[in-house]
Amino acid sequence: MKIMSNNENISFWQRFLKSMTKANELGREEDVMTDHDYDGIRELDNVLPPWWLWGFYITIAISIFYYVAIHILGWYGQEDEYQAELKAHEAKVAKYKADHPELFKTENLVAYTDAANIEKGKELFATKTCTACHLADAGGSIGPNMTDEYWILGGGFQNIFNTITKGGRPGKGMVAWESTITQEERRQLASYILTLQGTKPANPKAPEGDLWEGVKKTVKAIEGTVEGAVEVINEGTDVVKEGAKEVVKEVKEVIHE
Ligand code: HEC
Repeated sequence: MKIMSNNENISFWQRFLKSMTKANELGREEDVMTDHDYDGIRELDNVLPPWWLWGFYITIAISIFYYVAIHILGWYGQEDEYQAELKAHEAKVAKYKADHPELFKTENLVAYTDAANIEKGKELFATKTCTACHLADAGGSIGPNMTDEYWILGGGFQNIFNTITKGGRPGKGMVAWESTITQEERRQLASYILTLQGTKPANPKAPEGDLWEGVKKTVKAIEGTVEGAVEVINEGTDVVKEGAKEVVKEVKEVIHE
């Protein structure tokens, strides 16, 4: 029984092979020999093997299927696939941002005041090539002097941090450091720069930009106080008034310097 089924299998397999190749029996070549003779090399007129023909037909069928599916029915498209992947990725980014707000929100950041972070800022100022344009003492060269109260792009921690992050005005040479310096390091840099206020660089560049708003407000407040004092003094004698006016003039000059 077992042997018989084996025999059957073999004969089935052989039948299958034969039907797939339609090869001619050896020794019967004469039947299919053509009269082509190239220097003794002759040619048999065998039929194309069905296994090959079927492969060929199947690829044609697949190509028709793909053509209809992609170009006519629009079941699939590379553009759609790309957009879908992009969307999925953007959703991931949004989720990450939502989960780690502290990494992306900078409006609540404040300056470091501890020695270690300031020291790190100083180190970064030298190693991140800032000194090439602003000089080691921040007196300014290609970039502006950062020891005075005048700022082109705004003083105070937030403005300085933003300038380092987003860069200066186009074409001025101050690039955005966002992608090359981490947020933490930009914070350390801005904190360090703030500590330079009022220091005396060797060759300070002339002030550029505006007296920073914060300073302006302080000046206004002092002026207000002085004017209040003047009113009180005005109640006094002429000599007191004259003397007081002189003092006020001098104070104004000093705070505007
Ligand atoms: C290639 C030269 C160059 C380099 C390098 C450079 N800067 Fe600047 N920086 C400038 C220029 C020019 C400006 C003025 C930008 C403007 O006018 O818009 C500026 C402006 C600034 C300002 C704002 C000053 C103001 O008055 O508002 C800060 C803060 C600053 N740079 C910090 C840095 C830090 C920190 C680095 C290093 C990470 C750095 N810069 C590297 C050229 C440079």
